[in-house]
Amino acid sequence: MPDSLERVCLSGDYQAFVRQQLDNPYALYDRLRKLDPIHWCKPMRCWLLTRYSDVFALLNDSRLSTNRGGLYLDLLTPENRLLAGPLVNHINTWMLTMDEPRRTRCRRLVSLAFTPRMITGLRPMIERVVGELIDHLSKQGPVDFMREFAEKLPAYVISDMLGIPREDRDHFQEWAVALTRFSAAAGPELNNFVVPASTGLQKLIELFDPLISERRLKPQDDLISSLLLVEENGEQLSQEELFAMCIFLFIAGQDTTMALLGSSVWLLSQDAEQFAELRAQPAGLVEMAVEEFIRCESPVPRGVRRAKKTFQIDGRQIEQDQTVILLIGAANHDPARFPEPHRLDIKRTPNQHVGFGRGPHFCIGAPLARLEAQIALLEIARRVSTLRPLTDHPQWTTNMGLRSLAELPLEIDVA
Ligand code: HEM
Repeated sequence: MPDSLERVCLSGDYQAFVRQQLDNPYALYDRLRKLDPIHWCKPMRCWLLTRYSDVFALLNDSRLSTNRGGLYLDLLTPENRLLAGPLVNHINTWMLTMDEPRRTRCRRLVSLAFTPRMITGLRPMIERVVGELIDHLSKQGPVDFMREFAEKLPAYVISDMLGIPREDRDHFQEWAVALTRFSAAAGPELNNFVVPASTGLQKLIELFDPLISERRLKPQDDLISSLLLVEENGEQLSQEELFAMCIFLFIAGQDTTMALLGSSVWLLSQDAEQFAELRAQPAGLVEMAVEEFIRCESPVPRGVRRAKKTFQIDGRQIEQDQTVILLIGAANHDPARFPEPHRLDIKRTPNQHVGFGRGPHFCIGAPLARLEAQIALLEIARRVSTLRPLTDHPQWTTNMGLRSLAELPLEIDVA
């Protein structure tokens, strides 16, 4: 194995690995894909897969499970292990990480409430919020696009959908972030997130508990009420499943969409020609453009799996219970699948990216995320004539499970 790769992945210097990922994950992905596409990463104690063909196939492979089992606990100090017990139990009840056959049952029940019709019905509300947020931007000087737009839109949409009172929204973000940081962390850094994530979980339970009880007594026109009412063959979501669903939908739908909105505007600000093309034909290009933003800077850069049994892939032996990281961000930049993969091309066709995953865990919120991003970018293309970033190197967040800008200071001209 060549030196450079050994230094990053085999040195045991986990922080170096993380920094490298954040500064330019695509260079590292390219090296891994070329030199060792099925790579055992010692500091993270996991397999890293970077080829599109492997990631595409294994996202839909029943030899791998999304259930983390004891994965988190193994990495914690004894004190943190005690503290994290309830947290880990809760994460294992999320739809993404739950064991079969319960997961498929839950997904079916949730799909009865989270329908395409329900999502389409949100369009007028999303259009109104986007319009208000752009009006707000027009009254500012330089703005941090992440704070003033990208973070607000999905938080408003998901809160409206779940029926969360507006005045409570700001706290949530903080609690949800704490929880996702823990759930997305790997390696020794997991220990840093135990306390904030436990507090965040407690606060979210305190928030959803009365909301669920109120809706049980008096259903309203929101997703919690619909989730309470779904029933198929006499089966309903249990109280525990309902809690987990509300919390997971809340956190799964926020930072991901925020990340997509931020990256989209950043990418457009770096390519005046393609921004001009989008502005010239917003309705005709926006759907393709959104898919390309998801491919270029995939907000969920990886899927985490555990091997249910020992198996071979391309001559490498994956042992039972080992962690396998399917690097979605790397797959979406594989030159074997996407010509000139590092180039933004808002008219790219075909564009069969795996940014929303694939197979049994395909993102249930993809239609909502697409709708929010399309409405936002359509309006930005129609109303914003200039996007001038105030930095050449915006900071990315340090969350390895989320590819998102931490801030995006911009000067913009709004019509
Ligand atoms: C741009 C925004 C989004 C991206 C890029 C994204 C990406 C993903 C990906 C890659 C997965 C599969 C993970 C895996 O296989 O390990 C996933 C699953 C999931 N997503 Fe999203 N997501 C986004 C927005 C949303 C929204 C808005 C919601 C809901 C409000 C949502 C809810 C979920 C749920 C519930 C799952 C688990 C599905 C299952 O396991 O059956 N996501 N998402």
